Amino acid sequence: MARGPDATRPGPRATDAAAARGRAFAQSHCSACHAVVADHFSPNPDAPPFENVVDEEGLTRETLTWWLRHSHNFPEIMNFEIADHEVDALAAYMLTLRQPGTRRR
Ligand code: HEC
Repeated sequence: MARGPDATRPGPRATDAAAARGRAFAQSHCSACHAVVADHFSPNPDAPPFENVVDEEGLTRETLTWWLRHSHNFPEIMNFEIADHEVDALAAYMLTLRQPGTRRR
């Protein structure tokens, strides 16, 4: 992960293989609507950037994983199911976008 928009940030741990897989998954499955890397605007203004999603008060790996597993129950535009192993990778990646001490909204 030496390249990319956030290459200059301490951000995602390059050694975390699950997070790297999650990032690739997010880029192929979610980035049509969501900003999936830090400091970007979402292509779909209604879709919150992942950076904001994980910045939610009280969000934990458990709540995020639960949400991703049940995402097919949520708004129609988000009607998809994500395989369990992809959920874990995705959650691992999304949590790397967290910035302790920063509230963006
Ligand atoms: C077709 C566009 C689209 C795609 C593709 C999409 N999303 Fe979304 N997503 C949205 C929209 C729009 C919302 C906001 C829905 C609302 O608030 O009613 C949303 C909301 C969310 C939320 C909830 C955020 C919050 O704080 O409530 C999460 C988490 C999320 N998306 C994750 C994903 C993931 C993970 C993927 C890829 C696997 C994905 N989305 C793909 C459009 C999309």
